[in-house]
Amino acid sequence: MAPTAPANADTILEIKDLKTYFFLEKSTVRAVDGVNLTLPRKSTLGLVGESGCGKSVMSMSIMRLIQSPPGKIVGGQINLHRKGTSEVIDIAKLDPRGAEMRRIRGGEIAIVFQEPMMSLNPLFKIGDQIAEVVQVHQKLNKKDALDRALQMLSKVQISAPKQRLNEYPHQLSGGMRQRVMIALALSCNPSILIADEPTTALDVTVQSQILDLMNELQSDVDASIIIITHNLGVVSQMADHVAVMYLGKVVEFAETRELFHQPKHPYTVGLLNSVPVLGRKGKQHLEPIKGMVPLPTDVIPGCAFAPRCPHAMKICREKQPTLQTISPGHTTACWLYEDA
Ligand SMILES: Nc1ncnc2c1ncn2[C@@H]1O[C@H](COP(=O)(O)OP(=O)(O)OP(=O)(O)O)[C@@H](O)[C@H]1O
Ligand SMILES: [Mg+2]
Repeated sequence: MAPTAPANADTILEIKDLKTYFFLEKSTVRAVDGVNLTLPRKSTLGLVGESGCGKSVMSMSIMRLIQSPPGKIVGGQINLHRKGTSEVIDIAKLDPRGAEMRRIRGGEIAIVFQEPMMSLNPLFKIGDQIAEVVQVHQKLNKKDALDRALQMLSKVQISAPKQRLNEYPHQLSGGMRQRVMIALALSCNPSILIADEPTTALDVTVQSQILDLMNELQSDVDASIIIITHNLGVVSQMADHVAVMYLGKVVEFAETRELFHQPKHPYTVGLLNSVPVLGRKGKQHLEPIKGMVPLPTDVIPGCAFAPRCPHAMKICREKQPTLQTISPGHTTACWLYEDA
């Protein structure tokens, strides 16, 4: 299967035919099942798709944080093009507990989750937690690491940052905790920041403040962002490119504007039709996608979307489509665009 775009000097991460399975007693969950993706430098990629399509498993695979057993990367490559060098390292081949992966995790690729309380230790002061991460990745003494923590807290626009250094996570609001998480994630100048539903737990106003902040920081720090969300509004506001996932595979990839205006895959069209569009006047005709996502344990011979697809043809139920280039930078895996 062709990658979503060829890797070039501008590529920071290239995922090739990645497969992450969970081997359960009675079945195998093919959570990520042949993902191809290219992430350009200093850009934001939106990763969308219904619940259970493998977005988080993909990000946890990149971080090599998949619980094993039962999870395992069974195939493919996660090629990290390291900043400032011509070195390319395949993360999928590293020992998840080894020194190299520990350097990459947090140092070169950082992640922010939906629920900051899961990642922050309730027993330690905010300043100490950021300083510790900084000390693990950079050779700084405690005082300099604390200075860096203060600098990062100011950068994420937390009020009274100096005072926050000495506070505990429970003393902060949800929005402030998410700012702390972003400060923590960016404290070691990673080349990739993965944000998995970073604002879902927050109220709408705080949500847009956090998104604005991430947008501002992006132009400031030299990082690419992968933002995972259910919210297509967030994607249109944040992302340069969008990858649409369905049942463990990327079914469409394009620049954001192109994807919203010229969606090709019937699943993408369905996703776009099932959400209200801001600014569109008059009564909107919303059409949820029919049916349910098949279980990732079911083996489907053809296109996994065929059972729900309004355009399904005979071949769709028999053979899997592969990613085809529709126009430069726009790919989709659908028989409507492929010669059988
Ligand atoms: N530890 C695990 N053991 C078994 N199955 C798992 C495990 N973790 C994830 N899965 C399965 O992998 C599939 C993909 O899950 P994943 O969490 O990546 O979905 P997602 O796209 O992030 O969904 P959501 O939008 O709800 O966060 C699901 O079927 C899920 O049940
Ligand atoms: Mg998820």
